[in-house]
Amino acid sequence: MATRRQFLLSLASAGSGALLPGCLRGQSDDATPNALAGVRLEPFVDPLFLTPVLRPTSEISGSEHYRITLSEFQQKLHRDLPPAVVWGFEGITPGPVIAAQRGRAVTIDWLNRLPARHRLTIDHSLDGAGKDLPEVRTTIHLHGGHVSASNDGYPEDWITPGKQQRTVYPNRQPGATLWYHDHAMGITRLNAMMGLAGVYLIRDPAEERLGLPAGRFDIPLVLQDRILDARGQLVYPVSDSIDAPSVAEFFGTNILVNGRVSPYLDVEPRLYRFRLLNAANSRMFQLSLVPGQRFIQIGSDGGLLPEPVIRSEIFIAPAERLEVILDFRGREGRRMMLVNNAPTPYPSGGGPVPGLVMQFRVGRPLSADIDTGRIPDTLRAVPRLQETAAVKTRSLKLVEIMAMKGQPHRVLLDGRRFMDPVTEDPLNGSVEIWEFVNTTLDAHPIHLHAVHFQLLDRRPFDVRRLERTSEVVLTGKVLQPAPEERGWKDTILCPPGQVTRIITPFAGEPGRFVWHCHMLEHEDNEMMRPFLLRA
Ligand code: C2O
Ligand code: CU
Ligand code: CU
Repeated sequence: MATRRQFLLSLASAGSGALLPGCLRGQSDDATPNALAGVRLEPFVDPLFLTPVLRPTSEISGSEHYRITLSEFQQKLHRDLPPAVVWGFEGITPGPVIAAQRGRAVTIDWLNRLPARHRLTIDHSLDGAGKDLPEVRTTIHLHGGHVSASNDGYPEDWITPGKQQRTVYPNRQPGATLWYHDHAMGITRLNAMMGLAGVYLIRDPAEERLGLPAGRFDIPLVLQDRILDARGQLVYPVSDSIDAPSVAEFFGTNILVNGRVSPYLDVEPRLYRFRLLNAANSRMFQLSLVPGQRFIQIGSDGGLLPEPVIRSEIFIAPAERLEVILDFRGREGRRMMLVNNAPTPYPSGGGPVPGLVMQFRVGRPLSADIDTGRIPDTLRAVPRLQETAAVKTRSLKLVEIMAMKGQPHRVLLDGRRFMDPVTEDPLNGSVEIWEFVNTTLDAHPIHLHAVHFQLLDRRPFDVRRLERTSEVVLTGKVLQPAPEERGWKDTILCPPGQVTRIITPFAGEPGRFVWHCHMLEHEDNEMMRPFLLRA
């Protein structure tokens, strides 16, 4: 990593040292004596916020229409803190759930009513975030959506406060948990930190027939991490360089679920479906239940898995979605915690690892409707794509360039920057294999817009040899995808020292999209490239 030295600025004023009485206590971070590592907060005192499903503003000829306002407001993130200044949709962050029906188009007008000044420090040395540009810019992208290029929220297609962006989503793809978030060039990490993200579901009759837990027993859980100061305000660090204030990664000291710090949820002794979304800027989560209980994983990015997978631990990288069933039957009166233990940066860093995600309290008697839902043995056919179907294989290196001689730290895809000419140009209707050769020390979640793909395998390679000769020489044995990675994916974890190979059918409307690392600090720092879907 580049410089890990960070100075922290709070929203309200720099380095507020004042601490509130009661359970709030400043943590001291020994590596950075003047840093504010956030307040320590009592966990499990706020009920989980059940994010409402938004009603369409109108329905025109079988298509649903929404008007969604982006604005700044205050939201209480924890019982013992004053409300934080945040950005969100329709007055909440994460934004309301949008529930689309498969086969039914959705049109959304995103109204930018944000202030003209950004709340967080912009790094004008980053491409697309120059001093000549308006500070506050937004472009909303539907992550995982199979949409046309003009509706995809291209990073440079931003609008400014007072303007609106219209997007049309055809929803012709299978049922899945997607999400919407800002994608503005050079400031995505800051807009996301302020709160511009929300869940978008595609409901699918094929899925509803399975009888999985539904209605109020089907709950999205949006995971984020934040640093909060004693006044309850968001803190986002800056580097020690005035000219290049962006940091290599962001790791918060508190975990938020649906916009509240470590909440609790009262559950009935029955089956629940939880749709987890990692909406953190950089943090990966490795989750387990204490006391021990299994997760039954049923879905990933692109919808249901072929069959349920029983797991004692689940892993979710930024932007990934993971659907699980938790079985609380026979657990009346128990409490269990969802805990995290993923190192940051992953897999070998020494950053802060807040452990307590949320708590489940199994208490209430069964409600009137006693159908607790089922877990079928098979969920959905996901035929494996054959390598022979691919017309092209691209080898793409993930590269980190350390800061030196006045050159800032950068993370690049295949050594190129965003503004360099397009090199990835798959033909519409074709299948390609992309091999991500991770030469860095960290794992990166790589995301492609407009498509879903399958993981072929991961292969360890000789990193030193590559540095000397730029040859990729494989070592060790091929790692086959685990059962939970055999569904459709749009974001794939690429561990260091491995070649992660995916196979993608490129089918849609031709146009220009992007692919990038979904650690937002990397994405803003050049780890994003255009790709052209050729006609
Ligand atoms: Cu979650 Cu380029 O997107
Ligand atoms: Cu996306
Ligand atoms: Cu990355």
